[in-house]
Amino acid sequence: MRKKIVAGNWKMNKNLQEGIELAKTINRQVEDNDVIVILCTPFIHLTEVRNVITKDSLFLGAQNCASEASGAYTGEISADMICSTGAEYVILGHSERRSYYHEDDAVVNKKVKLALANDLIPIFCCGEVLQERQSGIQFEVVRSQVEKGLFDLSVEDFGKVVIAYEPVWAIGTGVTATSDQAQEMHKVIREQIAEKYGNAVADNTSILYGGSCKPSNAAELFANPDVDGGLIGGAALNSADFMGIVNAI
Ligand code: PGA
Repeated sequence: MRKKIVAGNWKMNKNLQEGIELAKTINRQVEDNDVIVILCTPFIHLTEVRNVITKDSLFLGAQNCASEASGAYTGEISADMICSTGAEYVILGHSERRSYYHEDDAVVNKKVKLALANDLIPIFCCGEVLQERQSGIQFEVVRSQVEKGLFDLSVEDFGKVVIAYEPVWAIGTGVTATSDQAQEMHKVIREQIAEKYGNAVADNTSILYGGSCKPSNAAELFANPDVDGGLIGGAALNSADFMGIVNAI
């Protein structure tokens, strides 16, 4: 059975002390059960937050990694460095990376491979912008991101990947996709995976929803058969909201 996952994406929020406090509170409140809870912190928090985690179902992740393995890339952080902190996940291809830092599908694909080669589980993000949805091309857009970002992976490697569908128009806007819109896209993605890698792999792939997910709408979103959890931005910065979402699953 595929895993239920709630991942918090702290983005560029919380200084080190604030981040440690938030992680401590969440660590206290997380129950050890089969829901995987992941804290995706800024790079500089990783080592300290690792030391705070004592629960078996709480994991650590980064929000990006370099597209090169090592070398003269001033300011970059490699997948190997992330792994060496004890982090096990890395968000890749987030729409903010794609739009503000011009990461295209090819760059995201390189990062996915480096992450896997360094024992990190990619949380691969995909999603259409508002104009694409309004023009009715959302399925093509997302299918193309998934294909170009992931479909040259071996079955074994693909089986490790977590996918996050995040409609860009819902990220940080307060506008959430309806439960039906989320389910519809997740089903399309799962069918696409089945066409490429077969039904068993598709059934085992966790597909998370992201975009203005809150305690008040999480249960309805997570009740869909193809929605296996959430990637949470704003609501991950407050332990009560984040745990409200974790407990909604
Ligand atoms: P949001 O962000 O929950 O603040 O909309 C989600 C994300 O960007 O991962």
